[in-house]
Amino acid sequence: MSNQNRSFTVAIVGATGAVGEVMLSILAERDFPVGKLVLLASARSAGTQVDFKGQKVDVLDLETFDPTGVDIALFSAGGSVSKEYAPKFAAAGAVVIDNSSTFRYDADVPLVVSEVNPHAAKNRPRGIIANPNCSTMQLMPVLAPIHREYGIERINVATYQSVSGAGRSGLEELGRQTAQLLAFQDIEPKKFQAQIAFNLIPHIDEFLANGYTKEEMKLVWETRKILEDDSIQVNPTAVRVPVFYGHSEAVNIETKKKISPEQARELLRAAPGVEVVDEHKAGGYPTPVTHASGRDPVFVGRIREDFSHPRGLNLWVVADNIRKGAALNAVQLAELVANGG
Ligand code: A2P
Repeated sequence: MSNQNRSFTVAIVGATGAVGEVMLSILAERDFPVGKLVLLASARSAGTQVDFKGQKVDVLDLETFDPTGVDIALFSAGGSVSKEYAPKFAAAGAVVIDNSSTFRYDADVPLVVSEVNPHAAKNRPRGIIANPNCSTMQLMPVLAPIHREYGIERINVATYQSVSGAGRSGLEELGRQTAQLLAFQDIEPKKFQAQIAFNLIPHIDEFLANGYTKEEMKLVWETRKILEDDSIQVNPTAVRVPVFYGHSEAVNIETKKKISPEQARELLRAAPGVEVVDEHKAGGYPTPVTHASGRDPVFVGRIREDFSHPRGLNLWVVADNIRKGAALNAVQLAELVANGG
């Protein structure tokens, strides 16, 4: 599919969702060579129209759509939709870039962060490339350069994940509960397992037999696969917080070779897709609202020595979970495919 001047038939599956709509705007922003655009969602949304570069595009029903002729399909409509339809699109000749966790851990499906392991995208025997989970995604551009030079042995990470990671209904639930509680009304959790407004919930995705949540284990499995090193130990805790857009992570790493905060800053200033914001003053660190929301880079700050360990380092990592954590990386993968990668 390598051709600098050709344009592509691009399908977005889940085009009306929180990630799908940002995929659409990023395709336009980055001027991806879209020849034909196909927007797909459930029968509920079929017949509605969405704006792309000033033109109205019809949303079609995925169930009745024939994928023949689609070159690249960006899937973000949940695991069960990917499971059923991604193989059908791939069989019809499309390269599928899938944002669900359905295929991520299959050995014959590459799991790719565009700045970190783009070479892996080339080998896609099933025609599917998996987009990592948002919380792993934003860690990788920061940790990969450190791992390459200093060797990471262990990662301790606690996440502070915004409600947009749970889709449009997650955003609506935080808004609704906040308004209801400020009006002294009762709330009833629907999307989340407990009250999310003015609260934190240490539970994302399902519980597994080992007592961790699947969201936590994604950090373990995906870090090892993307960094191509099964020896890395990862100790994760994943928490949902009442923030609309932007995930944050408190990260502690133990390296083979000692890395000082200044060495880390220097390395990260040169890392693609990473922006260092690290001054010891009010506002001299990234937050989801002030830095990440609506922006592309992964921001890193609060870089400091872990004085409890001879080779420990602490970092604070923030990114827009819908952009770098999902839609932006998916479009970057589409660019790799379009450029013959
Ligand atoms: P729809 O808007 O028609 O429900 P979010 O992650 O924000 O909840 O968005 C999920 C996206 O996936 C939406 O575009 C939604 O379409 C789409 N979707 C959900 N279930 C299906 C399905 N069974 N078939 C096709 N699209 C689906």
